[in-house]
Amino acid sequence: MSQTIAVIDFGSQYTQIIARRIRECQVYSKIYHHTVKAEELTKDGVVGIILSGGPSSVFAKKAPIPDKALFDLGVPILGICYGIQLMGYLLGGQVSKSDHREYGHGTLSIQKPGRLFSKLPKKLRVWNSHGDRLIKLPPGFTAIGTTDNSEFAVIEDANRNFYGIQFHPEVFHSERGTDVIRNFLVGVCKAKQDWTTEDFINRAVADIKATVGKKSRVLLGLSGGVDSSVAAALIHKAIGKQLTCVFVDNGLLRKGEREVVESLYARNFKIDVRVVDASALFLRRLKGITDPEQKRKIIGRTFVEVFEKSLKSIGGADYLAQGTLYPDVIESVAIGNNPAALIKSHHNVGGLPERMKLKLLEPLRELFKDEVRAVGSACGLPKEVVWRQPFPGPGLGVRVVGEITKERLEILRNADHILQQEMMDNGWYWKVWQSFAVFIPVKSVGVVGDERNYSYVIGLRIVESIDAMTADWTRLPYDLLQKISNRITNEVRGVSRVVLDISSKPPATIEWE
Ligand code: XMP
Repeated sequence: MSQTIAVIDFGSQYTQIIARRIRECQVYSKIYHHTVKAEELTKDGVVGIILSGGPSSVFAKKAPIPDKALFDLGVPILGICYGIQLMGYLLGGQVSKSDHREYGHGTLSIQKPGRLFSKLPKKLRVWNSHGDRLIKLPPGFTAIGTTDNSEFAVIEDANRNFYGIQFHPEVFHSERGTDVIRNFLVGVCKAKQDWTTEDFINRAVADIKATVGKKSRVLLGLSGGVDSSVAAALIHKAIGKQLTCVFVDNGLLRKGEREVVESLYARNFKIDVRVVDASALFLRRLKGITDPEQKRKIIGRTFVEVFEKSLKSIGGADYLAQGTLYPDVIESVAIGNNPAALIKSHHNVGGLPERMKLKLLEPLRELFKDEVRAVGSACGLPKEVVWRQPFPGPGLGVRVVGEITKERLEILRNADHILQQEMMDNGWYWKVWQSFAVFIPVKSVGVVGDERNYSYVIGLRIVESIDAMTADWTRLPYDLLQKISNRITNEVRGVSRVVLDISSKPPATIEWE
């Protein structure tokens, strides 16, 4: 059994990032609500506590204050941001109220490394985001690090193993932040570094079993994307036949996509997958529609309708499973008047859980994308699924510019298939963010034999990106572009011309609609 580091949540969005950094150090952590009692931590075998940040001020009326007995447990404690102010406030120091926040980069100078800054440089660029600040040390503490704005940027009580830091070591902008956290976990708490992806899976499987029980049924909308695929594999591992997946063929899928889902999940994994062919309904509703936002609305609405119907046809369910990841969760825990955890609306299948009175099951809720990929691989999902490029919910519906027809979809599918094949065969598929073809409803002249004909244009969109917020077009080798272009104009009827999109985002978006 792994030793546990308790991360006490005071409502910061950074709490999960702290947990993620701890996982990066191969140590097990558990997030607790700030009202947790000290005895519960003892029961869980906690070997160290991190008091995380939070948006509140210790002076606020409903300020989240932890059980004071945490400080009597005899285990090391690290207070970060709001955490250091809590230590000052609760342990006999003094905190000063501030009307403005210190926000942004600062330089930390370490005067005495101690165990927390062992083997780290004496000067580090760190990220601050706090309002109140500590102005008098609690008894037993000394300051070991300062910034221009604070003489108490890092404090320690080496006897009790209590540490406080004003900046955020967990965020990417803080230099060597993970090393500071590792020093606390390993150097101070002596935690074992034995936490692995398999441990995550074992715990998640046990949790899902305990939540769902032996009788309840779980429904999951499988899209073929990474998140829902990994959620399906994990939940299936836990409850087998109690899970039913629904895959909706909306007629806007890529070539062969439905067949892959059927063979992979149904045949290989023996997951109960119901493929619902609703393509005729989708295409009927999209007939004559050219406005992209209207297309999206129709596709979204129709999806919910079809999904709801299939729920009835499988005889209902108790849980709706979703592959929600941490970045999809906007807020963490409800503190004071803050709203409870909110999910971006598109992740909540059109309000289905409330309408159908389904409980939500979200086993990937605390993970980040790269961790989800690791879980997927460990569950036996192939590289093609785990490293699949993002594909928009409305699918080819937003890649056929203008009106969507069967003929146009067929042309796009064939052209796109050639692009994907070449990208995979040449290893480029794995290096780029997205690569896809776009149907451009313009007829341009071409010659075949001695005859002139007017056929459609296919655009190639291949981009590199970190998070889809910005993107740049990929400089594919000319030889590869030539091969893709030749193959498309030779093999796909109805296409006379292939063009390459060389726009970056911004100002262009990745998708064409
Ligand atoms: P844009 O085109 O806005 O795309 O640069 C950014 C990322 O989002 C994807 N995308 C969508 N995903 N539904 C989705 O689920 C949509 O309507 C949608 N539109 C764009 C796009 O593929 C890219 O990864």
